[in-house]
Amino acid sequence: MAYNPTAIKLPEASAFERKVTGRQTNLYLLHNSVGMQVAITNFGSYLVGALVPDKKGKLTSVIIGFDNIDGLLKQESYYGATLGRYGNRIADGKFTLEGKEYRLFVNNGPNSLHGGKHNFSYRVWEANQIDAKTVTLEYLSEDMEEGYPGNLKVKVTYQLTDDNAITITYEATTDKTTIVNLTNHAYFNLNGEGNEDILNHVVQIAADNYTPVNNTMIPTGQIAPVKGTPFDFTIPERIGKRIKADNEQLKFGNGYDHNFVLNKREEHSPVATVTGDKSSIKLEVYTDQPGMQFYTGNFMPGTNILRGRVKDKMRTAFAMETQHFPDSPNQPHFPSTVLKPEEIYKTQTIYKFSV
Ligand code: BGC
Repeated sequence: MAYNPTAIKLPEASAFERKVTGRQTNLYLLHNSVGMQVAITNFGSYLVGALVPDKKGKLTSVIIGFDNIDGLLKQESYYGATLGRYGNRIADGKFTLEGKEYRLFVNNGPNSLHGGKHNFSYRVWEANQIDAKTVTLEYLSEDMEEGYPGNLKVKVTYQLTDDNAITITYEATTDKTTIVNLTNHAYFNLNGEGNEDILNHVVQIAADNYTPVNNTMIPTGQIAPVKGTPFDFTIPERIGKRIKADNEQLKFGNGYDHNFVLNKREEHSPVATVTGDKSSIKLEVYTDQPGMQFYTGNFMPGTNILRGRVKDKMRTAFAMETQHFPDSPNQPHFPSTVLKPEEIYKTQTIYKFSV
């Protein structure tokens, strides 16, 4: 089929002006000198959308989402949300820290997912637009909110650069020892929002290993080589090529929904590169995090109406959630997610677009 990206625009700011739990929500629009545009809301610190030029210079909507806040309020698929206090899963919704057991809300089979019931994506954050390219969002997660210890002060800075990159900086401090794992759950379709599935997008991930899971999507604890498996994206491959392979891990995830153990790397080398087969738009992901959840939208519900009046059908977008490994608090040999009062949590992820 001919490539025909729908001319989707970013939402109107007024469509996000609301009172949620008595607090004002807004839309913050960023733009750079070469025409890229990004929209962010302080409801859930969501990355609402991004328009980037395709090979013909036509602005293409590469992050799927809603054109008003009502859509965001009723979905549960985290379209562009900031995930916290702990992105991804914690087994049985419990962990032990300094000898004390903590219990979390169980919202995903037997496990806790993305911080529990009223996680960061449901909170109204304090926003401050610094300039045309920068907005900061702050949130105080109180001691024992959703079962996590410590008052955690969180700050997320979204910055658009003139080379078409969205830089996301996460900072946090706590007054008691706690655990923290922050990420963003943007869903990308590089052929343009509404342009069918992402199975022909080509992906490369700099990961020689991944963390296999059990049937409830909790890591088994093994760090397994990708070589010889459908998880080998060390050389570029189409998403759809092996997604239906006879492989237990793909069955558990209903496709790719796994944490990749990112290789040791130079500071300026991407951990992942994805190219839209129709648009030639390339996404490069840079991060200082040890892992990345590559999720191919296998559980997208197909019931939400997105911008462009299309439904959020299975595999019409993918996510690259940079992170510490799922269930790290219960797996001592994984890199630690513990944050102590005397420490500062600071990490950065960059999503850079080019043609
Ligand atoms: C998880 C998926 C989940 C999705 C939406 C991803 O991070 O790994 O299993 O369906 O988020 O919540």
